[in-house]
Amino acid sequence: MTDQTPFESGAGTSVSPSASEQTASAAPPARPRVLALANQKGGVGKTTTAINLGTALAAIGERVLILDLDPQGNASTGLGIDRKSRRVSTYHVLAGEASLSAAVVETVVPRLHVAPSTLDLLGLELEIAHQRNRAYRLRLAIEGLAGTMGDDPFTYVLIDCPPSLNLLTINALTASDAVLVPLQCEFFALEGLSQLLKTVDQVRSTLNPRLSIHGIVLTMFDPRNNLSGQVVADVRQFMGNKVYETMIPRNVRVSEAPSHGKPVLLYDLKCSGSQAYLKLASEVIQRERVLRAA
Ligand SMILES: Nc1ncnc2c1ncn2[C@@H]1O[C@H](COP(=O)(O)OP(=O)(O)OP(=O)(O)O)[C@@H](O)[C@H]1O
Ligand SMILES: [Mg+2]
Repeated sequence: MTDQTPFESGAGTSVSPSASEQTASAAPPARPRVLALANQKGGVGKTTTAINLGTALAAIGERVLILDLDPQGNASTGLGIDRKSRRVSTYHVLAGEASLSAAVVETVVPRLHVAPSTLDLLGLELEIAHQRNRAYRLRLAIEGLAGTMGDDPFTYVLIDCPPSLNLLTINALTASDAVLVPLQCEFFALEGLSQLLKTVDQVRSTLNPRLSIHGIVLTMFDPRNNLSGQVVADVRQFMGNKVYETMIPRNVRVSEAPSHGKPVLLYDLKCSGSQAYLKLASEVIQRERVLRAA
């Protein structure tokens, strides 16, 4: 473990100026950019990417909210929020029992907050199945956040989705500007991607016309494994420049960090996983600039 943190070391200075700095002299953005981390396949790196991309964006100067929309609550746990302290959760927000700002808690990472989840979320789908606004609940909650954060509004909201294309994920897609898809470098990587892309198209044509694909991030890449290289080539051929240049390597430090309740960037800043997430954050911000300029 290293004592150095990305907040002391000037990590991320390769991205200069940050999106926040860039807008510091202009009017602050009225609403955060909302990105859903989605893939109905389990265990592909959605939560790991939410935590560590969120941390890397915060290290660069962004104000980030991670919204835990998975009943498993892994993003909340990985950020050190124990179950007892999750008094107001995303369940309460989506059930209409609390505002999103009431659910937001600080993390050990400066500028990074989380709205935690609990197992209650498992029952939500049935509870709101007959409500007319059932797909818009998260979007309304995020819109309600804008006026409540004072002089320090969030610039990014990252939504950690469950491994399913259920109503929770539909709420996330309806609330988002763009989807970021973690894809594990394994043999069946592309399986299921077309179903996800079809769902994104459906949401775009019905519930949320502004929804776009931000990018696909290849996770758990292992350069010693020939298959990993082949998967990368296939995905890049199929999805072209939608695939980020940055790949997240398979790195044991990344998988150890959550059991310490810390992002890997705080657990071991120098490891290859941390460095990859810092690079990914700078790529995400560069894409944002292009999108904003368009
Ligand atoms: N780059 C990496 N190197 C090593 N292990 C990793 C890496 N990324 C993720 N993991 C490990 O792989 C497992 C699955 O990752 P993660 O929980 O982020 O996936 P997920 O898509 O959120 O899963 P679920 O679909 O269950 O929500 C975890 O044990 C995590 O620690
Ligand atoms: Mg997860």
